[in-house]
Amino acid sequence: MQVWAIANQKGGVGKTTTTLCLARGLAQDGRRVLLVDLDPHASLTRAFSVPADPPPAGTHDLFVGSGASLAALARRTDVPGLEMVAAQPALATLERRSSAQPGLGLALGRALHAVHASYDEVLLDCPPTLGLLMVNALAAADRLVVPTQTDPLALHGLADMLRTAAMVERSRRRPLTQHVLPTLYDRRTRSGVQSLEQLHAQYEGRVWPSAVPMDTRLRDAQALTTEAGAGGRGVEAYGRALEWLLAQDQSSQRRAA
Ligand SMILES: Nc1ncnc2c1ncn2[C@@H]1O[C@H](COP(=O)(O)OP(=O)(O)OP(=O)(O)O)[C@@H](O)[C@H]1O
Ligand SMILES: [Mg+2]
Repeated sequence: MQVWAIANQKGGVGKTTTTLCLARGLAQDGRRVLLVDLDPHASLTRAFSVPADPPPAGTHDLFVGSGASLAALARRTDVPGLEMVAAQPALATLERRSSAQPGLGLALGRALHAVHASYDEVLLDCPPTLGLLMVNALAAADRLVVPTQTDPLALHGLADMLRTAAMVERSRRRPLTQHVLPTLYDRRTRSGVQSLEQLHAQYEGRVWPSAVPMDTRLRDAQALTTEAGAGGRGVEAYGRALEWLLAQDQSSQRRAA
C-alpha cells in the first residue's frame, strides 16, 4: 500500500481537484484506492454528495476515543475501485485537543496500518494549514504531491511547504518522496508563463515538467466523482501527470536496486 499526501499550506491551489483526478486515474488503472478527506471544510466529501447534516461518520472518528476503524468508515463511491472517508467540521476542533492528548499526531498512520492489505493506494486530501491534520498526513505518507498555482505568490507558499516536509522527513527518519505539480496554469498571462519557467528551473527533477491548464470543466468536482467522469484538457493533463509520478517511482526503485 502506498500513501500519498496531497498538500500545500496555501489555499485554493488545486489540492482537492488533484486528489480526485489522481485517485480516479489510479482506480481506472485497476488499483484499489482509498481517499481520506482531512479538511474540515470537506470539499472532497461534498463532491461525493455526502450529506453534511447530520455530520457523517468519518475522519474525525479516528482521532477520538470511539475506536472507529478506517475499514468501517470507508464508503463506496460511484467510481469502481474507489472508496472514500468523509470529513466532518469537528476536525477543526482537534487542534485544541491535541495538547491534552499526546500521540494524536500519529493517529492516522496507525489507522492506515490496519488496512494496509485492503488498498493499493491511499490519497490524503490535506487542509491548507500547517497543523495537526497535515502533520498526521506527512507522518503517514510515503510520498508528497504539492500542487502549486503558477503565480509569483504561490512560489513562496511552495517553499514553505517543502521546508515543512523536510522537517517532518528528518524527524520521522523515513524518506518522503516529494513532487511538485504546477496547476491552474494560464499561458495567456505573462506572470503565469514566468512563474512556470521559474518553477521548472528552481525545482528541476522534482517538478512535473508540464502544467495542468486552467479548464472550467475541472470546476465541476461532482462530475469527477461519477463513473463517466469529466473530460477535457485538464483531466487529460492529470492523466499525464499521474503517468509521470508513477514513472518517478520506477526510476527511484531502479536507482535503489
Ligand atoms: N485546472 C483548473 N482549472 C480551473 N479551475 C480549477 C482547476 N483546478 C482547480 N480548479 C478550481 O479552483 C478552485 C480551487 O481548487 P481546489 O478546491 O482543488 O483547491 P484546494 O487547494 O483544494 O483549495 P482549499 O485550500 O480551499 O482546500 C475550485 O473551485 C476548483 O474547482
Ligand atoms: Mg481542498
